[in-house]
Amino acid sequence: MIEFQEVTKLYPNGVVGLENINLTISQGEFVAIIGASGAGKSTLIRTINGLTAISSGSLKVNGIEISKLKGRKLRNLRQNIGMVFQSYNLVPRISVLRNVLSSYAPHLSWIQVLFGWYPRAAKLGALESLNRVGILDKAFIRTDQLSGGQQQRVSLARALNQNPDILLADEPVAALDPVTAKEVMDDFKKINKELNKIVIINIHHVELALEYAHRIIAIKDGAIFFDGPVSAITNEVLDEIYRKSTTSKPS
Ligand SMILES: Nc1ncnc2c1ncn2[C@@H]1O[C@H](COP(=O)(O)OP(=O)(O)OP(=O)(O)O)[C@@H](O)[C@H]1O
Ligand SMILES: [Mg+2]
Repeated sequence: MIEFQEVTKLYPNGVVGLENINLTISQGEFVAIIGASGAGKSTLIRTINGLTAISSGSLKVNGIEISKLKGRKLRNLRQNIGMVFQSYNLVPRISVLRNVLSSYAPHLSWIQVLFGWYPRAAKLGALESLNRVGILDKAFIRTDQLSGGQQQRVSLARALNQNPDILLADEPVAALDPVTAKEVMDDFKKINKELNKIVIINIHHVELALEYAHRIIAIKDGAIFFDGPVSAITNEVLDEIYRKSTTSKPS
């Protein structure tokens, strides 16, 4: 469970990233975060695993106040939160399997990681993660030989391989064509449904957000503008979120 109470993020340059955020996200929810560029979507997602520190308020993950965590405890929290980025963030010249295995690295010594000496159970786990996202046949291929959609699946498998309760994704399909984007969204949906993980996705494509998520959180100027089920979203809400861009359209 993720609980935000009056969370504010003020960047050192004075920009308000988040303003008075109150939210509770429970196990098994599939949440899409939408909003115009600069609204605060990435900031919101990055506070959940402590990549961005909050300025005030309370943010608890599974009952633990994350701003108080340091060192090993913070690493343990991050281990429980998988993250997928728009640009995949994979190591290009190593195999797909080794990329997925890298999420197991915190459990090993540096020498084991350097030489790729992973325990058999870890390798089997990584292969299972690849199987879940439908690219088991790519396990021994060099990662940079894969298409964008396949690479994003590797990234998803790596996140999944941490066995997290929570999966965060910042614009995971923004770089993909519409068909591939849907395939990757199908994987998120499957993982959410079968493994009951919290999935939180920042997404520019409103149609995809409405099609895949159960709950939509719309952010405007760092504040929550709408929070509710997909069925409650209206055109007025969508117009308002993107108002700057719609008013600048030629009439
Ligand atoms: N490290 C930073 N330092 C200062 N300001 C920042 C920093 N990161 C983000 N901001 C500012 O905070 C606001 C929210 O940014 P954020 O990246 O969260 O928006 P976003 O909704 O993810 O936008 P996009 O859709 O373009 O990715 C913006 O005004 C941005 O310029
Ligand atoms: Mg962003």
